[in-house]
Amino acid sequence: MELTNSLPKGPNTPRSLRLMKFIFQPIKYLDDYAKAYGDTFTIQGSQGTPIVYFSQPQDLQTIFNADSSQLDAGRGNSGLEFLMGDNSLLLLDGDRHQRQRQLLTPPFHGERMRAYGQIISEIAEQVMNQWTVGKPFNIRASMQEITLRVILRVVFGLDEGSRLEQLRSLVGSTLDLMSSRFNSSAFFFEFLKRDLGDWSPWGRMLRQLKQIDELIYAQIAERRAEANPNRQDILSLMMSARDEAGQPMTDIELRDELMTLLVAGHETTASALTWTLYWVDQLPQMRDKLLAELDSVDADSDPSIITKLPYLTAVCSETLRIYPIAPNTFVRVVRSPIEIGGYKLPPGALILPSIYLAHHREETYPQPKQFKPERFLERQFSQYEYLPFGGGNRRCIGMAFAMYEMKLVLATIVSRFQVSLVNKRPVIPVRRGLTLAAPEGMKMVATPRLKKPAYTPVSV
Ligand code: HEM
Repeated sequence: MELTNSLPKGPNTPRSLRLMKFIFQPIKYLDDYAKAYGDTFTIQGSQGTPIVYFSQPQDLQTIFNADSSQLDAGRGNSGLEFLMGDNSLLLLDGDRHQRQRQLLTPPFHGERMRAYGQIISEIAEQVMNQWTVGKPFNIRASMQEITLRVILRVVFGLDEGSRLEQLRSLVGSTLDLMSSRFNSSAFFFEFLKRDLGDWSPWGRMLRQLKQIDELIYAQIAERRAEANPNRQDILSLMMSARDEAGQPMTDIELRDELMTLLVAGHETTASALTWTLYWVDQLPQMRDKLLAELDSVDADSDPSIITKLPYLTAVCSETLRIYPIAPNTFVRVVRSPIEIGGYKLPPGALILPSIYLAHHREETYPQPKQFKPERFLERQFSQYEYLPFGGGNRRCIGMAFAMYEMKLVLATIVSRFQVSLVNKRPVIPVRRGLTLAAPEGMKMVATPRLKKPAYTPVSV
């Protein structure tokens, strides 16, 4: 392959216009550029920094396997420091990133999920019990209620009490504020990040974050005082973890990682769950297949039997393929020159592995705009073709947890209710902070599921 010093071609649209499209038409933005320039293209970031999009599996393989001294990722997330703190896994690079990852990964290991299955199904039941049959409700809010409660129970170890209630309402409203169109835009336009007092969206958010911090530190202090070795929650496991030098995490590190898990873990999974219910409603034949599979196992089965069901797994995988919650992985910042797909990228260039475009390559996924869970039953995709959780040394540490939660909650809901969109029109994703999601106001209605009798006698 011939190596070139020039970067891949791309649009010359003025940055402000391009950003508008990026914020308000995120899917069209990617589809249009891929149509015009193919898998690989360059856009101009602030101060003319080139941002190169990649989505070919071979190129993604090169990026995800590059030495960590060649590419940084934490640096590209510095805009989240106000929220997650400077010890957050998301913001670190090099040795510090590796250390925090080693400390945080064990509680998220696939094997550990068993301990959380019962809690997840119970929480899904509690939230479903709040639905009024036949009355439209905001599906996203409901899914977020489930995933927030799950995180506060499983990660923070909060079972009940006023701290749980305070955190629940504060985190919910803070993240809603953060995802508002205004604050979403502030991620890209620095001048909007102004604290103009309580009435300004940014100022209000900062004040709420401070209150959340106080509650988190109180929870850490209480856990330290309690020192109960039998606790299974992730905070307790994080507190007992030691690095190679035998050192535990400090309170500030614990706070930053808890905040990171809270933010990275609950909105993403809520968006994913909202889409699963949307697709199940849109495609009745798929729903029938899914229900037939769920009915084939005992409803009170061990959660780990349910989460191994192949069609259920395929529905969740296809949900994350067609509209990945994160349209791209974190930005990779080139530290030392690197060759990708025949291009030589200089230090300072930004690399954007596009999850959405990798998931919409006709070559990998024939008829990519169609929702077809069967593709995941017919063949296996490599980690460079299917990457809803990113890749390499930054791959999502909550991957097993998120998939487990998605499958259990979906199975719990569809086994009891038929959940249908109030307005049957097809829905396309909108930007929600750094992610893509179904539109905020999407309403669905729940009706009890009618079970088909196993045997219908034929009258003559
Ligand atoms: C459907 C749900 C989720 C999706 C789609 C998702 C997706 C992602 C993606 C794309 C990345 C960036 C990877 C990269 O740049 O290569 C990431 C990183 C991360 N995710 Fe998730 N995630 C989900 C759920 C969760 C959950 C449940 C947690 C924890 C409770 C979590 C914690 C994290 C953390 C801590 C990182 C940073 C990893 C690092 O920098 O080393 N995520 N996630």
